[in-house]
Amino acid sequence: MTTRRVHLTINGRDYSGEVEPRLLLSDFIRDDLGLTGTHVGCEHGVCGACTVLWDGEPVRSCLIFAVQTDGAHLMTVEGLAPNETELHPIQEAFSEAHGLQCGFCTPGMLLTALALLRENPNPSEQEIREGISGNLCRCTGYHNIVVAIQLAARKLADLESATTGGER
Ligand code: FES
Ligand code: FES
Repeated sequence: MTTRRVHLTINGRDYSGEVEPRLLLSDFIRDDLGLTGTHVGCEHGVCGACTVLWDGEPVRSCLIFAVQTDGAHLMTVEGLAPNETELHPIQEAFSEAHGLQCGFCTPGMLLTALALLRENPNPSEQEIREGISGNLCRCTGYHNIVVAIQLAARKLADLESATTGGER
């Protein structure tokens, strides 16, 4: 089968690869690029485990072909933490509020939460539940996930307030 060269940016870093047109983005990210933080559950767009951000918007990488992402700017869960010793505030919140059990859904939940909080920094509980409604958690940990996203919203607001000197 013929292959095509794909160049894209993930987490601010340039990547390229030779891909068959049928290769899924989720498999390209995990198997070819080694970014295994993106999980694959259902492989048909239902569970949200494979969520990545494309230009800041959550997309299901199991529903996209790698060739479609030529020139794209993506973010995977590996791009959340600022460095190897610190966590992103959303990751801190999930850890502190026990927003995960087995952790399989967590990468997708974290990126979905990031996109939600960028769009709506102070969501209601209902808005959070709607925001994560496309992400399935097999451990039924939704209550603590919602609490974690509420905590993340407060952490991000505190950070914003600290950097703007309290001006709103
Ligand atoms: S693995 Fe992509 S939505 Fe389930
Ligand atoms: S924490 Fe196990 S699937 Fe969500």
